[in-house]
Amino acid sequence: MAYYIWVFINALLVISTFIYIWVFRSHDSQIVTLGQVFAQFAIILFIVNVNMYFIFLVIRRTKVRKLKIALAKMSRHMMKSHIKLAIIGTILIVFHGGIMLVKLGGIVGYTNPKIISGILAILCLAVTLFAGYRRYKKASGFRRKFHYTTAFIFTFVFLVHLFLPL
Ligand code: HEM
Ligand code: HEM
Repeated sequence: MAYYIWVFINALLVISTFIYIWVFRSHDSQIVTLGQVFAQFAIILFIVNVNMYFIFLVIRRTKVRKLKIALAKMSRHMMKSHIKLAIIGTILIVFHGGIMLVKLGGIVGYTNPKIISGILAILCLAVTLFAGYRRYKKASGFRRKFHYTTAFIFTFVFLVHLFLPL
């Protein structure tokens, strides 16, 4: 049952962002559109990374041995790309933020909620990367909690940013 909710929420996230960006927020400016493409790819990578929490959660909780083993294998596979996805996503988002700041900041104003929330999101991303790096260097209960908590806050903030009007 939980499995269906999990798949459903992921699909909902990806499909709703896709429709929102490409149906409701299309721009004439090619460079702004490119900025949106960067952000669309980046958030998919971030969503994949955040899913690690739920995979580890099910591995810890399930009593079904087969599922435990299958997910453990999958998580090992996914963790091989975890840091790469984070870095690629970050690079894309830096370009996204840069384009939006330069191309729209001056027009809509730098205190526009879309701009402010974007800056807030990138700051949360920086903290998540830092926390991930600490978690990678040395695992401890606190570091684990720190990394997934920052990852969740970051996800929440970027979702707010994404769906705010310009
Ligand atoms: C300096 C940081 C940022 C600035 C100034 C910024 C600015 C903007 C602006 C102005 C838009 C609106 C484009 C439009 O209405 O067509 C936008 C859209 C978007 N941003 Fe950001 N952003 C920043 C950071 C981020 C971050 C960190 C993420 C995600 C991790 C993100 C994800 C998105 C997505 C997915 C969209 C598409 C939704 C839409 O077009 O309205 N942005 N951003
Ligand atoms: C977009 C950025 C990132 C997001 C959203 C993210 C998210 C997550 C989440 C949700 C988990 C599962 C936490 C748990 O249940 O223990 C995790 C695990 C982990 N992350 Fe990240 N992460 C990001 C970047 C990074 C970076 C940059 C590093 C390292 C330099 C990193 C290293 C790790 C490590 C070592 C684990 C633990 C894996 C394990 O227990 O086997 N993460 N990450």
